[in-house]
Amino acid sequence: MDSIETKKTKASVRNRADAIKAFRCKNLIAVIEDPVDIKNIGTVIRNANALGVEKVYIVDPRKALPDDWQDMRGQKSLSKTSVSAVKWTFVKRFDSTELCLEHLNKLGFASVITSPHIKGKNNVFLHEGDYTQHTKLAVWFGNERRGISELSVEHCEMCVAVPMFGMIESLNLGTSSGIVLYEITKHRREYQSKYRRSRHKGKRSEPLPTIMPRDS
Ligand SMILES: C[S@@+](CC[C@H](N)C(=O)[O-])C[C@H]1O[C@@H](n2cnc3c(N)ncnc32)[C@H](O)[C@@H]1O
Repeated sequence: MDSIETKKTKASVRNRADAIKAFRCKNLIAVIEDPVDIKNIGTVIRNANALGVEKVYIVDPRKALPDDWQDMRGQKSLSKTSVSAVKWTFVKRFDSTELCLEHLNKLGFASVITSPHIKGKNNVFLHEGDYTQHTKLAVWFGNERRGISELSVEHCEMCVAVPMFGMIESLNLGTSSGIVLYEITKHRREYQSKYRRSRHKGKRSEPLPTIMPRDS
């Protein structure tokens, strides 16, 4: 590639990075708890990036991932399975659920968990939930086999289920992250477009756009 083309490509990447900023859901984190399959991890990061989720946290007790985001960005398997989304979405790993919860609590994040089953006291179907009550929200997805841990259930505000209509008990981890994060980011973008602050304060005179224009 000659240098003019490289400059053009860099400029278009920069333009895209600038254009998407306004649509990103601030203070929204997707948490994956003890995922095993790298394809699922890549899919969650890809979905988070595509849908405008600010960050991805990974509870990784097996220490399968590097500690540092810069090293994760260079990890081939993660770059491949996320189609390079790991380069553009901040990812942080934790050794345990306890440490992740501690970090989220310190920053003032509320947690909601996702599960096909009834968990904890406050259970809703995805379309019924209000995902704009908390300015800072972490959405948890569980392990492929065991689902979400008891500790996360204890610390969550609500448990969200995608309604199921088939013979299969649950959705795949990556798939469920796409469905759940689509709905939650849609709610939060609509809220952000109308209000500057929490609890319906700071109403904007004109709502901001919630959809990005598509390239022709
Ligand atoms: C393959 S499922 C885990 C199934 C596991 N047997 C269980 O009991 O939860 C992996 C993760 O995907 C998410 N998930 C799968 N199906 C879901 C659904 N119908 N509603 C909400 N989340 C779901 C949850 O985060 C779950 O922990």
